[in-house]
Amino acid sequence: MSVIRSKILGVGSYLPERVMTNDDLSKMVDTSDEWIVERTGIKIRHIASEYEMTSDLAVKAAQDALGKNHILIGDLDAVIVATTTPDRTFPATATKVQTQLGMTRGFAFDLQAVCSGFLYAMTMADSLIRSGQVKTALVIGSETLSRLVDWKDRNTCVLFGDGAGAVVLSAAQGDGTVEDTGILNTKIFSDGSFGDLLYTTGGPSYSQTVGTIFMNGREVFRQAVGKLATAAEQVLSEVGVKSDDLSWFIPHQANLRIIDSTAKKLGLPLSKVVVTVHHHANTSAASIPLALAEKVNSGEIKKGDLLLFDAMGGGFTWGAMLARF
Ligand code: UT7
Repeated sequence: MSVIRSKILGVGSYLPERVMTNDDLSKMVDTSDEWIVERTGIKIRHIASEYEMTSDLAVKAAQDALGKNHILIGDLDAVIVATTTPDRTFPATATKVQTQLGMTRGFAFDLQAVCSGFLYAMTMADSLIRSGQVKTALVIGSETLSRLVDWKDRNTCVLFGDGAGAVVLSAAQGDGTVEDTGILNTKIFSDGSFGDLLYTTGGPSYSQTVGTIFMNGREVFRQAVGKLATAAEQVLSEVGVKSDDLSWFIPHQANLRIIDSTAKKLGLPLSKVVVTVHHHANTSAASIPLALAEKVNSGEIKKGDLLLFDAMGGGFTWGAMLARF
C-alpha cells in the first residue's frame, strides 16, 4: 500500500560557545563535580551569551541542517520551534526564525511541551506532511534554559543548559511497512495532574514575570522511567517492532541514570543508547535533536538505521517516536 512518509532530509545543531563546568557551579552553590557526575552524568553545559536569544540558537541549528544537506529555504513550507524559553511572550520565536532564515512564505509557530517539545513538534510536522498540507517542514528544538534557572538553587541549577537542534522533514513515498524510510510511528501523552512536580514559579498571566524552575527531582525521576518505557513499548508494539530490531535508542538527555534505567526496562544494550547529556546537560526540547545530530555527524547513525526516540517533561508530557533514518 502506497503511503506518505515524513523522511529526515537533514539534521543540524548549535551549542553556545561559553562552557560552564561543575567546578564553576561549585563556586556558586554547595555542590561538587563528584555529586553532579554521580547523580546525573553531567560534566559541562553550554550557556548562551547575553546577546544570544533562543531564536539565534535556532537559526544557527537550522542553517547547519539546511547548509550541510543543500536544502533551499524556498523548499520549506513550515517551521515549528519547540521551546519553553521563547525570545518574548509573543510573537512566536518561530516567526522570527522564519524571517531570519529568509523564508517569505509558508507558516511558522511555536510549540510548548517542555522536554517533550521536540517529539510533539515532530508529531505535528509528520501529521501536516502525511495530510498533504505541507511537503517540507523544519522542526527545531531550541532553549535558553539558563534564563529560567534559579542560580542559587542547587537542586536545579546544576541540571540545565542551552542549545538547539534542527531536523528537516520532507514527504516521501513509502510502502506502509516498517521497512520504509522516515517516521514510522509516534505517540504523545500528557497528564496535567502532575503539574506541581515541575514548573516555573512565574508566567505572563500568573505573575507577569517569567519565574524560575522548580522541580521535585526524586518524584520526577520515579515517574520518568515508567512513562518513558511505556511510551516506547507502545510505539514499538503498535507497528510490530521488537527492541532487538532497533539500531539506536535516542532518549531525552536529562539524567544518565534515567536513560540507563529506561534502556534496561526496554531490554536495550547500552551500546545502542545515545548519550550526550555529559556535555550539554538537560537542554529540554533541544536535547533529542542535539543527540541525533551528534551521532549523524560522527557517522555512527547511518542510512537505514532504525531509531527509537523517547522524551518526558513538565506537564507531565511524554512521548516516543520510531523512525528509519
Ligand atoms: O527534563 C525533565 C525531567 N527532569 C528530570 O529528568 C530530572 C529528574 N530528577 C533527577 O534527575 C534527580 O532526581 C536529581 C539529579 C535532580 C537529584 O538526584 P537524586 O538522586 O534524586 O537526589 P535527591 O533529590 O534525592 O537528593 C539527595 C541529596 C539531598 O540531600 P539530603 O536531603 O539527602 O541531605 C539533596 O539536598 O542530595 C542533595 N542535593 C545536592 N547535593 C549536592 C541536591 N542537589 C545537590 C547538588 N549538589 N547539586
